[in-house]
Amino acid sequence: MMRMVRQNRSPRGLFDPYYCPDKLLHRDRELGLIDGIYRDSCQEDYGVNCLVHGISGLGSTVFSRYFLTKLTPKEFDSHTVYIDARRKDALEIVAELNDKIHRETNTPITIAFDLDVLWMQFKRTAAATEKKTVFVVDGIDETNEEIYSKLAHLSKEIRASTIGVLNSHDYRLLTKGPATKFAYDFEIPLDTYTQKQLYDIVRHRVEDTFPLGLTEEIVRYITDCVIEFDAGKPRTSIEALKALWPLATSGQEITSDAVRAATSRITSSIQEMDIMDTVEAISMNDYITLLVLESLAQHLMTYKTETYIDRQTLNELVMIKCEEQGVRFVPEDIERSLHTLIFQSVVFESGYSRNLLYVIAPPEILYDASLSLRRELSRRK
Ligand SMILES: Nc1ncnc2c1ncn2[C@@H]1O[C@H](COP(=O)(O)OP(=O)(O)O)[C@@H](O)[C@H]1O
Ligand SMILES: [Mg+2]
Repeated sequence: MMRMVRQNRSPRGLFDPYYCPDKLLHRDRELGLIDGIYRDSCQEDYGVNCLVHGISGLGSTVFSRYFLTKLTPKEFDSHTVYIDARRKDALEIVAELNDKIHRETNTPITIAFDLDVLWMQFKRTAAATEKKTVFVVDGIDETNEEIYSKLAHLSKEIRASTIGVLNSHDYRLLTKGPATKFAYDFEIPLDTYTQKQLYDIVRHRVEDTFPLGLTEEIVRYITDCVIEFDAGKPRTSIEALKALWPLATSGQEITSDAVRAATSRITSSIQEMDIMDTVEAISMNDYITLLVLESLAQHLMTYKTETYIDRQTLNELVMIKCEEQGVRFVPEDIERSLHTLIFQSVVFESGYSRNLLYVIAPPEILYDASLSLRRELSRRK
């Protein structure tokens, strides 16, 4: 089947933290919610405040920006103001709000450096607008709680709306006290993505950015790793794509080694545990498990573009090895060995199909370890 190839690919989708895809995937429920809340407030002419939150890296920034920059201009006749408040102090936040509302409403600004003066200016201009305004304050946390609730209260007063965006950690801290709780009317918790949804997001980003695309296998492998080790956060998968981007654009072949390197930061907890020790411990007197691991690693070493091996291929490879070694081949033994290897996190099953197996450690290391341990076992016999 022909795949539709999108024109105008650009690396922005990987490198710009404010990049907004043309379509926000798998956020229909949440977009419907915020759209409905804002629509009601426009129709009845009152201000409404929302908190958007989710685990960090899940997509709360892109969600709020999508609503503000793509939906609001299309569906509502409102001014929009976005500020990223993370690591800024109260003065910087108010100065930026003031600056943006003046630009948005085309009103001349008077230079000021005093927090109260700036706030008064901001308040006056924000209150004088004819249209409603949507403020998005991204990355709110405890440090400037006072300013955030002050803005939320002002919004209500002037029939504007404020959307506070924060990660789950800051959300727990902020909503312990009453100030934030009272200032906001609604909450929009963002759902975590399923494997399939994360895959769609990664796939979409690859189509948007990579000049020659990436194979399905790579996209799947990144998704598998992010779901297994990082709670399915899209941000981590975009980081992995970023690492692959220079290779892809220079025309180099993207091998499974490159993909493992790109995802190594996510899987480092696994890599840090001494793989040799684990293999040694599970293979004490277990010749067949070593043989299975050896065959699996050897296959992945030989076929550098393959990140997975399927069970059928593995069975055949083990069968050949058994013959070479004069060992009886028992399929149930292979299943049992695989079970152990998977249980000990030496081998992993793909979330897409149990039939597909992958490793996190370099196959060379697994191969050397299993081969030398197996030889030692033979010697002892
Ligand atoms: N539903 C989605 N569709 C497309 N891209 C998404 C979606 N959700 C998250 N992303 C992407 O995931 C990355 C992380 O999102 P971001 O909004 O920066 O996370 P957060 O602010 O929650 O830490 C961004 O590159 C964003 O574009
Ligand atoms: Mg963010």
